[in-house]
Amino acid sequence: MTHLRCSVSHCGTTLDLHDRALACPQCGNLLEVAIEAPSTKPRDLKRLWLERRMSRDAQDGSGVWRFREFLPDGYDQTGVVTLGEGNIPLVRGQKTAAWVGLKRLWFKHLGWNPTGSFKDLGMTAGMTEAKFVGATAVACASTGNTAASLAAYAARAGVTGRVYLPAGQASANKLAQALDFGAELVEIAGSFDDALNVLLEKADPALYFLNSINPFRIEGQKTAMFELFEQLDWRVPDYLVVPGGNLGNSSAFGKAFMELKTHGFIDKVPRMVIVQAHGANPLARMWSAGAAELEAVAHPETQATAIRIGNPRSWKKALDGVRFTGGLVMDVTDEEIGEAKSWIGRDGIGCEPASATTLAGLRKLIDSGTVGRDAEVVAILTGHALKDTDYIIRSK
Ligand code: F0G
Repeated sequence: MTHLRCSVSHCGTTLDLHDRALACPQCGNLLEVAIEAPSTKPRDLKRLWLERRMSRDAQDGSGVWRFREFLPDGYDQTGVVTLGEGNIPLVRGQKTAAWVGLKRLWFKHLGWNPTGSFKDLGMTAGMTEAKFVGATAVACASTGNTAASLAAYAARAGVTGRVYLPAGQASANKLAQALDFGAELVEIAGSFDDALNVLLEKADPALYFLNSINPFRIEGQKTAMFELFEQLDWRVPDYLVVPGGNLGNSSAFGKAFMELKTHGFIDKVPRMVIVQAHGANPLARMWSAGAAELEAVAHPETQATAIRIGNPRSWKKALDGVRFTGGLVMDVTDEEIGEAKSWIGRDGIGCEPASATTLAGLRKLIDSGTVGRDAEVVAILTGHALKDTDYIIRSK
């Protein structure tokens, strides 16, 4: 049966799927959902998932829930909180591809979700679980996008949403979304890390937590990789490049690769490259130093405010994914992010600054010869261009 387990494999602790614990009661590490393998053959499931795109059913119409054979189960049809997230096109890089020197570059723009970021993919799963366990109020700390997403899905679920933001550091656009969807706003002096600490240590334990330490968020976010492979007719690209902040998204993608490979849906995996902003780069530092433990960055600083995070909670899970895929971790400067972002704009795609880390990182990897020019690469874009319009105006 699908259940929760400690994400550190040698611990071995398991819990009931709907237990509300956020950490392993034995060793304190994060939990993950252990999915019971579906008995249907990969070939048949692949066909079923595609067929659901033609269905009028709300669950089938969601680009998350149409992959429900690999998601936590037990929710009846009316229990799923969805805004029709996912089902996002895969767009070819044009000027961007020429700029980095690749022939086969794709963007999977997860910013083209209902609230303009990839968070919606996780929030539909997290909010569905919150409702299932009877929560009446949900909360998160956020650099802005999780807040906007939580606020929207809380409104759909009919529960109170409360968001903890680092004062003066989230973009006005994201703040406006959270207010528009009716969330309660708590501003914390300090960084995202401080806001998360306040929430975890001081907030009412009756609140249901919806940061990416919540394993259900990860389950929803992992479906982006199911959809990506489907769009490539299950051909596996050579590289998958993803921005790194609190490292939930990279953890989710790593989990998807492990599950899809283990269960015979793909026969190899793309190398996963995580790109952090130089001023908020604890995992990149750890990687280049070959260290065994992550050392937090005390005062993270970057114009890419979405990833201004010094103490990412999911670093162990993310690193498991990087190692499983033979990938790497790197960082890029704010200047490199700005240049890459303007090329993504010129391709008619657009994104928020944090997303442009992927193209900026890719350019460096190709320049250094780490990635060959004949490689097929998918860059993940995480937030819509309209998420941070001040940044655009300032930089022009
Ligand atoms: N890109 C964008 C646009 C983000 O908003 C975030 C994270 C990331 C990348 C990094 O993803 O944390 O899974 O490694 N934003 C969070 C928030 C922290 O509160 O909205 P990650």
